Amino acid sequence: MKLIKNIKTLLGVNWGSNLIKGNAMSNIPSLENAFLVINDGRIEDFGAMSSLPQEDSLDTEIIDASGKYVLPAWCDSHTHIVYAGSREGEFVDKIKGLTYQEIAAKGGGILNSAKILNDTSEDDLLESALTRLNEIKNLGTGAVEIKSGYSMTLEGEIKMLKVIQKLKNICPLLIKSTYLVHTFPKEFLHDKEGYVNEVLTKHIPKIAEEGLADFIDVFCEDGFYSEEQADRILECGTKYGLIPKVHANQLSNSGGLQTAIKNKAISADHLEQIGDLEIALLKASSTIPTLLPSAAFYLRLPYPPARKLIDEGLGFALATDYNPGSSPSGNMPLLLSLACIQMKITPQEAITAATINGAAAMNVAQELGSIEKGKIANIIITKPMPSIDYLPYSFGSNLIEKVLIKGS
Ligand code: NIG
Ligand code: FE
Repeated sequence: MKLIKNIKTLLGVNWGSNLIKGNAMSNIPSLENAFLVINDGRIEDFGAMSSLPQEDSLDTEIIDASGKYVLPAWCDSHTHIVYAGSREGEFVDKIKGLTYQEIAAKGGGILNSAKILNDTSEDDLLESALTRLNEIKNLGTGAVEIKSGYSMTLEGEIKMLKVIQKLKNICPLLIKSTYLVHTFPKEFLHDKEGYVNEVLTKHIPKIAEEGLADFIDVFCEDGFYSEEQADRILECGTKYGLIPKVHANQLSNSGGLQTAIKNKAISADHLEQIGDLEIALLKASSTIPTLLPSAAFYLRLPYPPARKLIDEGLGFALATDYNPGSSPSGNMPLLLSLACIQMKITPQEAITAATINGAAAMNVAQELGSIEKGKIANIIITKPMPSIDYLPYSFGSNLIEKVLIKGS
């Protein structure tokens, strides 16, 4: 049993298990001068210090959180943290003027990562992914979605998904896995339909049969998968019990969002390139917009219209997109700063998007994302701070003092 007492402010109390939308995003329910009790990895009780039950038990570990904020750990609903090698050469190419698409067209980009990944053992992939998981956990992440998509061969995609499955077993963070249909392998560049067929008739059935993925995702974009191909892939995934997600409208207004909504995707991710029509469609759907501003930052793309989404009454999740090619960082606190500064959302809106809304986008809001009796105790304790706004204000500083995963 653990008791955290004298908490300056406990954020996200009784927030429920649903996506928070519009104005409500800036109103995080909180308790001043609070306590929180954790038992068996779950939240057992919380309340005002004045109502703290007075039974002192010897086996209760006490944490004094005077001056500190306590909040749900981040739920990072979109990452690619199982990968091999790194792509800092392309980082320099981009500085010298090449675009993401130009690098991909020369056989770089995702195919560059695929070449290395196909030559990397499962054990080595596991080890590097564990290092990254450990890094993001220390920055406050308590749940993470991880995608495949850096092999494109069935064996390689399965190798990645098996690494994610092992991570689920050995790592206390809550992990969800996604089969990502990312790009076309070199051998199929002149027979794209042939590769889509492999995905539909071999990859999806095998991956589903082995229970290796929770979600199916596709990169719907000019030069990658067309709307029509993405549609068939998601439809097939759904038939096999995988829940759709889509990489949509990152580089162009390519119909990805419409394809996501048509397939009842749980989330449509990126959305740098959406207009009024797409916002209206989102409002009429249950697909959760998921914004990845660190990818927009890194690729120097326009930011998604976060402010407008909130003003239109929509809710969204914020995620890091941690990957070697468009966002080589899984730093959620830095992401929150970027989101506030570049997309003009308030610290409270950003925290909502990174906690309960991230949990909703990875289908774990029943278990995580808010301070609720019975939920898993994945918790951030900050350093002493004058206000919660201080967290994204101090960009680049680490104000996370302690992270509890399942109470430990
Ligand atoms: O989410 N947009 C496509 N996929 C990744 C980037 C992958 C890569 O370049 O390695 C993304 O940005
Ligand atoms: Fe991505």
